[in-house]
Amino acid sequence: MFDLPAQRAHLSEKYDLTPSPELAASMSDIYDRMSRVVSPADWAIYAPYVKAINDLKAERNAVILGHNYMTPEIYHGISDFGGDSLQLAIKATEVEADVIVQCGVHFMAETSKILSPHKTVLMPDMEAGCSLAESITADGIAEMRRRYPGAPVVSYVNTTAEVKAASDICCTSSNAAQIVAAQESDTVIMTPDQYLAQNVARDVPQKNVVWWEGSCIVHEQYSAKDLREFREWNPGTRLIAHPECPPDVVAEADFSGSTSGIIKYVTDEKPEKALLITECSMASNIADELPEVDFVGPCNMCPYMKKITLGKVLYALDTMTGQVEVDADVADKARLAVQRMIDLSRQLGI
Ligand code: 13P
Ligand code: SF4
Repeated sequence: MFDLPAQRAHLSEKYDLTPSPELAASMSDIYDRMSRVVSPADWAIYAPYVKAINDLKAERNAVILGHNYMTPEIYHGISDFGGDSLQLAIKATEVEADVIVQCGVHFMAETSKILSPHKTVLMPDMEAGCSLAESITADGIAEMRRRYPGAPVVSYVNTTAEVKAASDICCTSSNAAQIVAAQESDTVIMTPDQYLAQNVARDVPQKNVVWWEGSCIVHEQYSAKDLREFREWNPGTRLIAHPECPPDVVAEADFSGSTSGIIKYVTDEKPEKALLITECSMASNIADELPEVDFVGPCNMCPYMKKITLGKVLYALDTMTGQVEVDADVADKARLAVQRMIDLSRQLGI
């Protein structure tokens, strides 16, 4: 368990983290990116952390990769690069830094370590997991191979390094359909997200897609009935769903895509009202850039993503704790599956 009081005591000895309206005002260029969703009082609390982290990043030659589900003060305040799982995985191979701080969940940090074994990869909270990654082990992959002999295994990046190592190729929500379509075999095994697999099966009817029964605790909560009712009560709202949602939910939506696909859609289309059927921080992170869009309706929090806080990032960078390690043999095998995905995505222009 994370020892929050010890972390706070350590940080307060070394840094002045007292809320400061003056410091907040001097960092208004950063605040302008989140002023629609973060109050001035909250920004005065965050500003000392943001300054300390950004100073320390320079000292450590570190970069922060921030997933689109990070809270605005992390996404806009300290991240050098924001993006979806595929973009962050590619960025991990490109950044020239000694240290990568992964503001996201554990499988993302593991992917960065697999792709950049010589860099130090820090995870601010090791307990930031993922219900999908927890749903399958390498034994589960072996079981699927026994059930469907000869079929290739396409594993979502939301998996552990061991599962990636046992898979033929990885995919993310932004390339899953194309990766499955590119497999030679008629039958393709997709793990661990049953709903992503069912959505891909609909889009790639030429393949017999079979799946593992995992699901995302954030996206499985939506129902098609919720969407129909919402549309009835709020006419004109554009409904935009992540493909980890059940297929009947995706079918009710106007668009479905990865987190970055959702951002691109809303940025290009600028609907008057939009309901993002996904994690809550998505809408918050683009609210300031898109003042003409009214983000409405309910969203769901990912309890794993929300484990990452400014205090934990500062502590990890200060103490260089939370280093992610992957066994070298496992990493070599997992790298093949991740690299195949990156190469195929580039080839397909994704
Ligand atoms: P993206 O690849 O679309 O960013 O999704 C990652 C994730 O965990 C969504 O729940
Ligand atoms: Fe995992 Fe779902 Fe959270 Fe994404 S939103 S990290 S898939 S639990």
